[in-house]
Amino acid sequence: MQAWFYAMGASAIFVSFGASAEASEPIGDECNGRIIYQTGEGDTPACAGCHAEDGLGTEDMGTPRLAYQVDTYVLKQLTDFADDKRQDNTQYAMNNIVRSLSEQDRRDVAAYVHTLKTPFIGSDLSQLQADGATVGRPEYGKMLAEYGAPGRGIPACQSCHDFHGSSAGRMYPSIGGQRYTYLKHELETFRLGATTPSTQDAMARDNDPAAQMRKIAARMTDEDIDIVAAFLTVSRPLTIGNPRAPMRD
Ligand code: HEC
Ligand code: HEC
Repeated sequence: MQAWFYAMGASAIFVSFGASAEASEPIGDECNGRIIYQTGEGDTPACAGCHAEDGLGTEDMGTPRLAYQVDTYVLKQLTDFADDKRQDNTQYAMNNIVRSLSEQDRRDVAAYVHTLKTPFIGSDLSQLQADGATVGRPEYGKMLAEYGAPGRGIPACQSCHDFHGSSAGRMYPSIGGQRYTYLKHELETFRLGATTPSTQDAMARDNDPAAQMRKIAARMTDEDIDIVAAFLTVSRPLTIGNPRAPMRD
């Protein structure tokens, strides 16, 4: 177990370098991506209608924040939706929406959302609680995100998603400042995906390479999911150039 954790740390450091070296190269045409995002195109509805104009997603619709998201990760998800390797099991809309886009359009919209610079706000946990949601305590989730639970075989989220969930490389999504409702949903669908393929149960998610997330989610309790999602949603991203200092308002 110990050796596995060291190996994990080393690979996270390696991919961090890759991410910063490639960060400036857009993967598509951001201007075309903006048009698709804001107004839609042909049969494609505007992404903004569900993911919000500022790209921060919404709690009510269960949509994720796309602003700042790693462009290559966004493109992979769009391709997976188009190929039915991932199901939109919240609104049952994404799979058809993506099929109405050309491959170039997918690259363009991925390039655009990556450039959206809306300040992170995360979810309002007190409001969610007032609305009746089960909300975890962020200070408990911090332990899980930064150290994992070695006794139960749960690695630190930070080893792949980096400090405050800011992403440690091109295949790892940024999960800090992500919507609480969405984070919970994804962890639950990965957990189900660990035992049941998505071809058998549309509520399962199993498009993570080498089952990296399924193996972890399978070991998480409902409470683990609540606390880590609470910590991640209120986590600040990094200040550019200083990978250990959270951004200040
Ligand atoms: C009808 C509402 C709706 C519209 C319109 C919509 N989305 Fe989504 N999108 C969702 C929902 C809901 C999810 C979460 C799916 C799930 O995991 O259950 C999602 C998920 C995603 C994801 C996965 C994000 C992640 O972090 O893994 C991407 C990428 C995405 N949408 C991009 C787009 C783009 C680009 C457009 C416009 C072309 C768009 N969406 C239009 C509802 C919508
Ligand atoms: C071994 C590396 C690794 C570790 C450790 C890890 N993840 Fe992940 N995670 C991934 C990968 C890879 C993906 C992207 C899967 C894909 O391509 O669809 C992912 C995706 C996710 C997503 C979906 C994000 C989205 O936008 O849809 C969530 C939520 C998530 N991880 C939470 C966590 C949490 C919480 C922990 C710690 C308990 C954790 N991860 C630890 C590798 C990891």
